[in-house]
Amino acid sequence: MPSAHLPGILRKRSTLHGFGVFAREAINKNRRIIDYAGELIHNSKSGRREARYLKQGCIWVFRVNRAWSRDAAVDGNVARFINHSCRPNCWIEIEPKTRTIWIRASRLITPGEELTYDYSTVGDHTIQCCCRPGCTTML
Ligand SMILES: C[S@@+](CC[C@H](N)C(=O)[O-])C[C@H]1O[C@@H](n2cnc3c(N)ncnc32)[C@H](O)[C@@H]1O
Ligand SMILES: [Zn+2]
Repeated sequence: MPSAHLPGILRKRSTLHGFGVFAREAINKNRRIIDYAGELIHNSKSGRREARYLKQGCIWVFRVNRAWSRDAAVDGNVARFINHSCRPNCWIEIEPKTRTIWIRASRLITPGEELTYDYSTVGDHTIQCCCRPGCTTML
């Protein structure tokens, strides 16, 4: 749900991977940037979807809690293009009642900077992280 109170961001090609999401303006520490939209699915279904997307090299399913996930491949917004970094400039806030996933700035982000958060993936780790030369993390 985009809001006039949220900062300007844009999707463009990233040196990290494919498309990424970038700040159009300075974003203060802890400011909410965007919610990670997507169909709310029960975790009894999420494993199958994750496996299907992973075959195409994609991670679209975001674990909200032990019971629920959001699948950004269905009804997702631009947040689904935010890349992972092991040294991210954003953090995740979960609103338990609405199961909303907020992406928030973990420090001052300057205009033009790419937004990243730590995917904290669970399950199979099959994608080599490219966040920096020599990173050994598997996503
Ligand atoms: C939520 S999408 C992010 C948008 C993606 N860059 C695109 O253009 O579709 C997640 C996918 O991006 C890739 N990705 C994101 N961060 C990465 C990283 N640090 N290293 C390698 N691949 C990454 C992986 O393929 C992952 O499955
Ligand atoms: Zn990394």
